[in-house]
Amino acid sequence: MIFVVDFGSQTAHLISRRIREFGVDVKMVSPEEAYQKAVKEKAKGIIFSGGPASVYEKGAPSIDKRIFDLGIPILGICYGQQLTAYLLGGEVKRGKIREDGPATLKLNASCPLFDSVSPHSRIWMSHGDEVLKPPQGFSLIGESETIKSAAIANEKRKIYGVQFHPEVEHTEHGSLILQNFLEKICKISTRKTVISIEDIIEDLKKTVGNKKAIAAVSGGLDSTVAAALVARAIGKNLIPIHVDSGLMRKGTTEKVIRFFTDKLHIKPTFLKTQKEFLSVLKGKTDPEKKRKAIGKLYIDLFQEECKKYKDVKFLVQGTIYSDVIESRGTKNSANIKSHHNVGGLPKSLKLTLIEPIRHLYTDQVRAIAKKLDIPDEIINQQPHPGPGYAIRILGEVDEKRLEIMQKADEIVVGEMKRSGWYYKLFHSFPVLTGAKSTSVKGDGRVYGEIIAIRAVTSVDRMTADWAKLPPELLQKITSRITNEIPEISRVVYDITTKPPATMEWE
Ligand code: XMP
Repeated sequence: MIFVVDFGSQTAHLISRRIREFGVDVKMVSPEEAYQKAVKEKAKGIIFSGGPASVYEKGAPSIDKRIFDLGIPILGICYGQQLTAYLLGGEVKRGKIREDGPATLKLNASCPLFDSVSPHSRIWMSHGDEVLKPPQGFSLIGESETIKSAAIANEKRKIYGVQFHPEVEHTEHGSLILQNFLEKICKISTRKTVISIEDIIEDLKKTVGNKKAIAAVSGGLDSTVAAALVARAIGKNLIPIHVDSGLMRKGTTEKVIRFFTDKLHIKPTFLKTQKEFLSVLKGKTDPEKKRKAIGKLYIDLFQEECKKYKDVKFLVQGTIYSDVIESRGTKNSANIKSHHNVGGLPKSLKLTLIEPIRHLYTDQVRAIAKKLDIPDEIINQQPHPGPGYAIRILGEVDEKRLEIMQKADEIVVGEMKRSGWYYKLFHSFPVLTGAKSTSVKGDGRVYGEIIAIRAVTSVDRMTADWAKLPPELLQKITSRITNEIPEISRVVYDITTKPPATMEWE
């Protein structure tokens, strides 16, 4: 087991993915728990991630210094290198200039970390600070155009540091450097894991045997891929269940039914339950109460349905690696996940969970989806939150407002697709704000609701930027909404980044 200590880097998850691709187990830990856990769980190697802080600043994340005395190999990356140097008596200072982007690594000494790495190779930098003087016992192994301490090492203590990012694709020999750390320094044997669908299916066959499994399928990419893999393994012993809450994007249910029936030849069970969902939402305006009500009803309905199948032993869930990380991450994300996911299903179901894509990232899930012949309309769709429209209709959700939302959403999605923007955006949707304003339609004055358009780009969900949409597209969407939906008086465009604003309005 390799530990990755997360100092807040955007690429901390990527480090663990790279290690996992070598067939090695990884655990992400916080700096506070790293020392205790490394001792208790006998880590074979520890990697310190990068991070946005400066080690010499007050309140900057740090680590129990005793971690360096455990004899466990350590590799510090960027902030991780600076922290190592700082805590062991070296000198870290703000560099003359910030360096973001490509640079060249020139190796000055041999070191197992750089075995077979060419003497000059391209690396990727992203830093403001630098190690000016390494701690005693460390030597300077490699330099770049701007810094002498691109790589430092204390071979006796098996402590290494690199200023650049070996985990990113742009570092030419990054993968080899990480492999060297695992093999040559931590003495772990590696095997390059190519994700093999056949292996996943074989594993599933062994696990499930001739028992039955239930899958909750939402129409989203992850649950579809998970269910499709299980279907390949156990065929008709898979029971896909789709709860149509009436709060999802138009066509979702049809998409699910089409895929399972036509491609997998399994008829999914689907429950049409919009009335029930609207009824539990009645009178509720608080976003969390709305989320909870939806989550609870979903679980109740699902559980009731499960009772009809007596001999089922397994529950298939489309958890992916970022879900695992997120739900362990901030308190907020833990909350978000618990309301809608099958993960929130009560233990009383007494089903064994199978999560065939738990170790994969979205790009890997997409690649598998393509191989499984899952249609593009599912692969390329924007994710839709579990509570669906309910958290995009601010305040109380009733049939009328839901209908307005569906119309507006169709216009937004339709125009985004026509212009090609849909596929460049992480999300694009209207929000029924609950605020009212005056407009003049025909000869009459209308005091109607305001719709906000939210369109964002994002790679990792954690941060998002507002999309710089062409004015003509915004104009088209606005005109169509105000013309085609009489109750809407005005359309505004949300240009707030995340942070501070979340992607959803509620
Ligand atoms: P925020 O609004 O927190 O959203 O920036 C980040 C991502 O999470 C989705 N989201 C949810 N997904 N149930 C879900 O299944 C929820 O309650 C929920 N709230 C937010 C949101 O759509 C975005 O992709």
